[in-house]
Parts: sequence; C-alpha cells; structure tokens
Amino acid sequence: MDKIVIQGGKPLFGDVQISGAKNAALPVLAAALLTGGTNTFHNIPDLMDIKTIKKLLCSMGAQIEGDETIQINVDKIINHTASYDLVKTMRASILVLGPLVARAGVARVSLPGGCAIGARPVNLHIKALQELGAHVELKSGYIEAKAKKLKGADIYFDLPTVTGTENIMMAAVLAEGTTVLNNAACEPEVVSLADVLKGMGAKISGAGTDTITIKGVTSLKPTEATIIPDRIEAGTFMIAAGMTHGEINVIGCNPHHLEALINKLRDTGMKISSIKGGMKVSSGKKINSVDVKTLPYPGFPTDLQAQMMAYMTISGGLSVISETVFENRFMHVSELLRMGADIVIQGGNAIVRGVPMLHGAQTMATDLRASASLVLAALVAEGTTEISRVYHIDRGYQTIEKKFSALGADIKRIK
Ligand code: EPZ
Repeated sequence: MDKIVIQGGKPLFGDVQISGAKNAALPVLAAALLTGGTNTFHNIPDLMDIKTIKKLLCSMGAQIEGDETIQINVDKIINHTASYDLVKTMRASILVLGPLVARAGVARVSLPGGCAIGARPVNLHIKALQELGAHVELKSGYIEAKAKKLKGADIYFDLPTVTGTENIMMAAVLAEGTTVLNNAACEPEVVSLADVLKGMGAKISGAGTDTITIKGVTSLKPTEATIIPDRIEAGTFMIAAGMTHGEINVIGCNPHHLEALINKLRDTGMKISSIKGGMKVSSGKKINSVDVKTLPYPGFPTDLQAQMMAYMTISGGLSVISETVFENRFMHVSELLRMGADIVIQGGNAIVRGVPMLHGAQTMATDLRASASLVLAALVAEGTTEISRVYHIDRGYQTIEKKFSALGADIKRIK
C-alpha cells in the first residue's frame, strides 16, 4: 500500500488546476444507462471511483472508450446486477439503481453497507422508487427492484439526500406522467446531472431548488457534456493556502459553488478575490478561529469539515465544529490529536483549541476527506508526517501529491 510523506513548513505559491468533480461525474456516467447510442463526456477526473464505476457499467453492457474524454455507449443492458464486491468498494454504485429500473425494468443492486463516516442507509432511495411503482424487495443483502413501467408520483424526501435525489430523478425521466421531488437536494452536482438529462431530452425544472419537477418522456437520446469542476478539491486547496501562509490561484473552479466556504475563510482573515477562471486565495496575517456547522447545500459542505478542522487546529482561539449531516464524521480527530492538536468531541460537536504548532507523526487515513485533512495538517506540521492507506485519498483527489508539490510543498508518494 502506498503512503505519502510530507515535510511541513513550506508556504504554497502558484497555480493549481482543479479537476472535474467526482460527485458530478459518477451520476452522469450512471445516466448513460438511460439511452442507447454514444454519449460523450469531457473533463472526467482520473480517480479510483471513476475506474470502479466504469468497470460496473461495462459489466452491464456499456462500451467505454477514453479517459479524460469518455465515449460511453449502452445500446443494450446485458446484466442488471451490481455485485457486492463492486458496491462495497464504492457506495455511489447505488446510482445505477434508478437508471436500470427506468430503462430495463429490473435491477439487482447490493446494499452498499455502511462506511467510516456512518451507517449511510439508502432507505429513502428505496421508498421513493416504490412510490414510482417499482416492486422492491431486500434479499440477502441485495435490493431487487422490478417495474414494467414507472409511474410519476409526488415524492417527499425526509432528508435532502444527494444521491437519493439523483437516483430518483434518473428513474423519473422515463416514467409515465409527472414526478415532483420535494425536499430535494440542491447541490451543484444535482443541477449538473439535470442539465445532462435535459441534454438527453428529459423534461426537468427546478433543479437547484428543493422542488424538482420531472415530466416523463418515452425515450432519451445520447448527449455531449462537460463535467463541472470539483468544488471540494478547490476548497481543499483554498484552505491549504490559508494554513501555509501562501497565495494560490485556484483555476477552473466556480466561486458560486463555494460561497459558504468563501465567507468562512474570509472570517478567518483570508483574502479571496475572483480572477479569470477561478480565484486568488491568500492567507491573512493571523488565523482567526471561526465556528462551522455543516449543512446541506448551500450550507457549509460536510465534505470540507475535516479540512476546515485541520485549519482551525492552528487558529488563534477556540472553534466549535458541528457535523450535522453524518453521525460519525470525526475519524480524523484521533489522527490530528497525534499531531499535537487540541480537540475535544462532544456529541456532534468538536471543540478545537488552536495550538501554536502541530508536529509530524505517523498517521493513517480512514476515509476520503479525513485523509485530505491529514495532508493539510502535515503541510504545516513541524517535521515529517507519514500518511498510510492513501488509497482513500486516490478515490477523490487526482494526483494530490503532484498538485501540492507544484505549489512548493515537500510531499512524496512512497510506493
Ligand atoms: C453524497 O453522498 C456525496 N457522495 C458525499 O460525498 C457527501 O458527503 C454527501 O452527499 C453529503 O453532501 C456522492 O455524491 C457520490 P446523502 P450521499 O444521501 O448521497 C442520510 C465524498 O466524500 N440518508 O445526501 O450518500 C445519510 O445517512 C462523499 O465525496 C438516509 O438516512 O449522502 C446522511 O446522514 C462522502 N437515507 C444524510 O442523509 C437515505 O436513503 C445525507 O446523505 C439516504 C441518505
């Protein structure tokens, strides 16, 4: 297993190009199941999770060519099962459920099971699919769904689930009649999926708000689209600029997707301004401590909570970080404590007292965003930090060590 070794203390300067968003590309690739012919998608990031979903789609009959630009053709679905061994490596495989039932009338998808950050049930996906008329059974760890023809319905999500909204939107585009998704997720990745589906001929309005209306059509046609930039990768590099007292041009990101983070970072004393194609981000004289509460979009993103916590460990005061989306998303705390941070967990809150300096240590990544927070902490820690199990990082960050070393960090990957 690879590990990353970092010598802390180098300020970061220069440009970083943001890659296509993992959480936008995954549902868009799943949407290719909805139509025959060849879809073309540009700006696909080079990540483990993308390799996984390509493998899954090929096992279902997709022909896929290319990497950054992908041509995907699903003329015929030959297999309707997403097996446990694939789904357990990537829970977002659940995104094939809606398209499979919509296009083929049948799907057998392994229940994803929990992960490091929480139980992550998919009960809302299943309930909504049943409300669209699918017959769904849970059999020995698999979701078995069947429907001759899905029927439009008025659906209410108990929680604004991101992949739940995406899954059911993809199921509803070929249903008979109109579907309304209430309390839908508003994330930019939901909007980008709706744009791709509309490019295929779907009739969708309201994406980006909590009420999405879908008028079913009889069939869809292939389309061409470009994956939106990864706001979480962009946010990770912006926080790195603040922590290392550097100045970074974050290129290819959309500032509108990061308003909650930008406001928070300005409160910590950072200077952030729009430049052509992105943002110029520089640290303040000192780091003010701020409180953070994660919320569904447009609130502060839970996927940047761990990174923000790493930042607050070296702030000038006390910061309360509340994680309201997932029940166990403080796995990074124990590793940050080993680097000298001062953090106390009380229920869903982490109380972070700033310390003058973190110290390098041997650490272990647990989940994707927690490992990003360890990289950030290591960039400012005194001495050497080793991070093992970096496959967690490779799931969501394209060549993270290359991008950070191009900005002046002393970071190496050891095979
Ligand atoms: C998506 O996960 C993202 N993944 C996550 O990013 C992100 O953290 C999350 O949205 C929240 O923004 C992808 O888009 C592939 P949810 P998702 O359904 O859709 C509960 C990363 O690091 N819930 O919005 O699985 C759930 O337990 C990953 O890239 C149910 O109870 O998240 C959670 O508490 C991590 N029942 C809350 O809703 C359901 O059926 C939000 O989950 C579905 C969700």
